[in-house]
Amino acid sequence: MAIVILLVLSMAAAAMTTAAAATFSIELIHRDSPKSPFYNHSATSVDRARASIYRSALQARQIAARVQRKGGIEPSDAVSRLVPDTFEYLMELRVGTPPISVLAIADTGSDLIWANCVPCTKCYRQTAPLFDKRNSSSYRTEPCDSNLCKALSSSACGVGRSCEYHYAYQDGSKIDGVLATEDLTFYSTDGSPLVFSNIAFGCNYQSSGSFSSRTAGLAGLGGGAVSLVSQIVPSLDKIYFSYCLVPKSDTQASSKVIFGSAGVVAGSKVTTPMMVEGSFFVLRLEEIIVDGAGSVPVPPSAPGLTTGNIIIASGTTINYLPADVLSSLVQEVSRVVSLPKAADSEGIMPLCFAVTGEADRQKLPFITFKFAGEASVSLSPTSIFMDEFSFAGAAACLAVANSGSGPPLFGNMAQQNLHVGYDLAIQAVSFASADCTKL
Ligand SMILES: *[C@@H]1O[C@H](CO)[C@@H](O)[C@H](O)[C@H]1NC(C)=O
Ligand SMILES: *[C@@H]1O[C@H](CO)[C@@H](O)[C@H](O)[C@H]1NC(C)=O
Repeated sequence: MAIVILLVLSMAAAAMTTAAAATFSIELIHRDSPKSPFYNHSATSVDRARASIYRSALQARQIAARVQRKGGIEPSDAVSRLVPDTFEYLMELRVGTPPISVLAIADTGSDLIWANCVPCTKCYRQTAPLFDKRNSSSYRTEPCDSNLCKALSSSACGVGRSCEYHYAYQDGSKIDGVLATEDLTFYSTDGSPLVFSNIAFGCNYQSSGSFSSRTAGLAGLGGGAVSLVSQIVPSLDKIYFSYCLVPKSDTQASSKVIFGSAGVVAGSKVTTPMMVEGSFFVLRLEEIIVDGAGSVPVPPSAPGLTTGNIIIASGTTINYLPADVLSSLVQEVSRVVSLPKAADSEGIMPLCFAVTGEADRQKLPFITFKFAGEASVSLSPTSIFMDEFSFAGAAACLAVANSGSGPPLFGNMAQQNLHVGYDLAIQAVSFASADCTKL
């Protein structure tokens, strides 16, 4: 009998060590892909592009407001980073024991992982069942004097000294919940389950506002203490994660996040220093070079950032740059493009050209973003010009808007078909061009 118990215990221990030395990947579901519950059959690619521009503008405004409100980004401002219905990607989480699937917003700008839980007295209506902690043997309430609880902003002591959080978002959305720890299960590339124990997990008992009924939770992928990345990556075989975003025009393939050694960016790559400010990963952009024209220098400092001058923002579609940089860039691009100008019907991107076909698109230049450490990332026209309709017909717009008094953003459109790796041990980001459908 004792031997049997010992055997079971050592098997359990073996399962844990597997997770600890693991490397695995997660599929990122773009909200407009047919796999997403948000997929709209009748929307055209231009409708989708336009909606994503609109979401980008909302996100940029919210990021700017957060930075201004704080006079800098505070590490403790964890969940309030969330911008409810402006997300771009979803991912499936398996939470608890036995694991329950939760379709979550993948949010690179926030930290906490949360779901709506039973009993949710005043939660937004969701189509999936609520997470029921009574059904999970690994659910543990976190005490309010714990480090995890202190890592949250706006946390308090609740019933039985449990850690409670209360967040209000700028748009009026709110979540209230209890901080717990839970097991998260992922699958390694060979299909075996990998269990990560004691991961901070917010169990909402109230949520309201502009959340969609088709999502049941959120996975914070930012750089702060309670994010999925910060909690899981240190226990992997390498303190590293990467992602590769497929172009949005490819509706069949999926983007992925790869955790651990399997994600290391290989081949011909460039590497630049990366800093973590609160939830955000921050880089230093030095210069932007327009093929066939001149280069535009970028000032070393930017509003709200102290360690660099641009946030690498995979949850925002278009790029945001300071007004001066943007106007010089517009000038340089205008010098080399011989197409008639058009107006962005959204009024967000300052430079658009009327295009009537592929021959016109060939006239658009490559544009290189040069980051610190001689890290030149060359962007093809499809990564830096966005298809739009202006009042005069089809247009291609430079996918850059004015960051104004907010921090500059390097968006996900520019990152498509790049393998982007985050080496958290040495604080560096690497880029290599890749066919993300094949990674
Ligand atoms: C789907 O897209 C069409 C065309 O853009 C739009 O009119 C409609 O409102 C969209 N439906 C939903 C549910 O978003
Ligand atoms: C929890 O378990 C009960 C009883 O086994 C079951 O009826 C219920 O559907 C489960 N709830 C969820 C959300 O899994």
